[in-house]
Amino acid sequence: MSMAKTLLKLRAHVSVAILAALSPLLVAAALFWELFGKLFFISSSPKSIVGEVAVVTGAGHGLGRAIALELAAKGCHVAVVDINMTGAEGTVKQIQEMAKVRAKAYKADVSNYLELVQLNRDVVSDLGPVMVLINNAGILLHRNTVNPEPAEVQQMINVNLTAHFWTNMVFLPTMKAMRKGYLLTISSLSGLFPLPYNTTYTTTKAGTTAHMRALRMELALEQLNDIHVCTAMPNFLEANEEVRQLTNEVKISNLYPLISVKQAAQRLVDGMLRGEREILLPGLAALLYRLMIVLPVSWQELALVLTFGPRLKQLCALRN
Ligand SMILES: NC(=O)c1ccc[n+]([C@@H]2O[C@H](COP(=O)([O-])OP(=O)(O)OC[C@H]3O[C@@H](n4cnc5c(N)ncnc54)[C@H](O)[C@@H]3O)[C@@H](O)[C@H]2O)c1
Ligand SMILES: *[C@@H]1O[C@H](CO)[C@@H](O)[C@H](O)[C@H]1NC(C)=O
Ligand SMILES: *[C@@H]1O[C@H](CO)[C@@H](O)[C@H](O)[C@H]1NC(C)=O
Ligand SMILES: *[C@@H]1O[C@H](CO)[C@@H](O)[C@H](O)[C@H]1NC(C)=O
Repeated sequence: MSMAKTLLKLRAHVSVAILAALSPLLVAAALFWELFGKLFFISSSPKSIVGEVAVVTGAGHGLGRAIALELAAKGCHVAVVDINMTGAEGTVKQIQEMAKVRAKAYKADVSNYLELVQLNRDVVSDLGPVMVLINNAGILLHRNTVNPEPAEVQQMINVNLTAHFWTNMVFLPTMKAMRKGYLLTISSLSGLFPLPYNTTYTTTKAGTTAHMRALRMELALEQLNDIHVCTAMPNFLEANEEVRQLTNEVKISNLYPLISVKQAAQRLVDGMLRGEREILLPGLAALLYRLMIVLPVSWQELALVLTFGPRLKQLCALRN
């Protein structure tokens, strides 16, 4: 091996050694910042969004509807977007009963780029430029087999992963031009704690979380510090009957109670407006993840397999 290569390797090893030596100090500093810094040094009160326009995808049901209601309660005009217009109209009705903001239902499929371009045009002319984007739409495809159809896998990826590229491409340019805005993307804890027999789901959620991390770095490099990108990673929510049934069967609801969508929506909107980057629900999961990640991968996998493995395997066999 050449001398230059050896020196380069040595330098990389020395950098890692320095980081390792400093790491207890860095961890202590981060903990101190978490505990005291926020309390005493910076006021992290949520910003106002009175009079701004928000687009909420998948707002006809579940978490999306709860977030749309929460934004309206904070004085934001809301474009309620869904493929299901019955659900969307229902959300608009609920908003109009409780808040004096403008709300309108729009039919659009988030996996269709051209429909989103048209959606943006319609919302701008009806309500005004979009300053808040909530990427919530997703399908809870209940795959009944271990071997899902290729088309089913592709559709899940289209809606749960690719769609975020389309919504960001359509709505970010206005925020960049105005140098402000909020983007809240609903990912899932399963992006961090992978679920066996749910590889497509796990993959779309891990990909979405990584997408938002890279986007945040781009915005920082472009000094667009008033565009806040927040990723939500909730555990199972009390959103619909299918989830309730699944979590009861897998006995996940025995480990931690399901979170209500209203509670989740309040926490997420508040965190987004305070400029938080990633919100794990329940909060305890953030600590659990940090403690787990320092262990060898083989230990991490063993812990997850012991926790959910047998039930998921049993379910999988049952439904097959
Ligand atoms: N429910 C949970 O336990 C849970 C857990 C973690 C993360 N999440 C995430 O939260 C988000 C909302 O989940 P939920 O449980 O409220 O779902 P939900 O099924 O109750 O509602 C989803 C809404 O999105 C709409 N929708 C689906 N595909 C669409 C598309 N292509 N274009 C536009 N709208 C579309 C549906 O019509 C529906 O109104 C999802 O992204 C989900 O992955 C949910
Ligand atoms: C659309 O939403 C309504 C109201 O939530 C629901 O009753 C109906 O089943 C949904 N339709 C489809 C096709 O999902
Ligand atoms: C797809 O994404 C939605 C929301 O992002 C989530 O609720 C749903 O569980 C996901 N479904 C699958 C099968 O990945
Ligand atoms: C996860 O896998 C189980 C077992 O096959 C299945 O019942 C469940 O629907 C899957 N969940 C998702 C979100 O795909």
